[in-house]
Amino acid sequence: MNSDNFDESTSRLRLFEFLAEANGTFVAGSFLTEKLHSSRQAVFKLVGALRKEGINIESIPQKGYMVHDIYDTDAMSPTLIDYLLKGDLIFNKCLYFNQITSTQHPLKKLALQNAPEGIVAVADEQTEGRGRRGRTWLAPAGRNLLFSVLLRPCLCPGDVQLLNLAAGIAVKNVLLNKCHVPAELKWPNDILVNGKKICGILSESAGESDRIYYAVTGIGLNVNFSYEDMSEDVKNIATSILIEKGSSFSRPVLLACILREFSLLLKALGKGEGKAGLLSAYREACATIGSKVSVIQDGESYIGTATDITEQGALIVNVNGNDIIFAAADVHHLRMN
Ligand code: BTN
Repeated sequence: MNSDNFDESTSRLRLFEFLAEANGTFVAGSFLTEKLHSSRQAVFKLVGALRKEGINIESIPQKGYMVHDIYDTDAMSPTLIDYLLKGDLIFNKCLYFNQITSTQHPLKKLALQNAPEGIVAVADEQTEGRGRRGRTWLAPAGRNLLFSVLLRPCLCPGDVQLLNLAAGIAVKNVLLNKCHVPAELKWPNDILVNGKKICGILSESAGESDRIYYAVTGIGLNVNFSYEDMSEDVKNIATSILIEKGSSFSRPVLLACILREFSLLLKALGKGEGKAGLLSAYREACATIGSKVSVIQDGESYIGTATDITEQGALIVNVNGNDIIFAAADVHHLRMN
């Protein structure tokens, strides 16, 4: 193989692996040219491409190349993300967009071209970020995690909400275990910290009556969103990891952690007892269940106590002694007196 015909992105990933695995020591250029079966010039070009992705690579003549702590970088480098996803059960390929309408869009397009599941689209900025129920999702450029994943789950269309529940549990676990941010799940797809929204989830799917062809699940997590970035009305309803912890977090590292948790939950969901396991994990984690709530659906408002979720993830609310099932609605937690 020569430098003209090897696959650029595979070589970039291999080069990155050698540098990352050297743990902050220099890797000789000659070692890299040998391992990659390519010329010095080709290696130099790959290093340039990695630097363009935001990876900080030091180079010293006679010593070679060195990458600094990869877990510290906040650059949404697709090569770094592919590296962090190595061995993941589902997610294996990252597509990066500096700016895009919505990360949902390229994946829906790829899904229609028969792309396999496991592709992740990430962006630093969305110009038409989408929320649930046709709302917009706003985020300043380069601060938050904005990503979508392409899935081909063995589920019926009525079960799509289960993907949102799994994504919610994954994000909640990462917030708690990696960032020490005690977040709570609010049905259907919100994650809150002290009543303020830190994350929103949106799943869109296509299929026929008995099966989903594909689903695209999008997650917007406020990571390094600061009060200075927020308008006055957003300050009252939103928070971020930075605001909660007082320090910034590496977005690619958080992304890889979330995807790993999500993969495990999705794999379990595909097995015999998986659905029951997911539902019981969600029941345990969801602050809505057991809370007094106001539910708004199609302009009508209902006040009652959320008692449970159904097998398909719909919310059961006891309103004046009658159980009402809501498949999609806006919920507010009310304080119990
Ligand atoms: C909501 O709470 O209303 C859901 C918000 C989902 C936002 C994410 S950001 C990444 C992906 N791309 C979008 O356009 N929306 C989702």
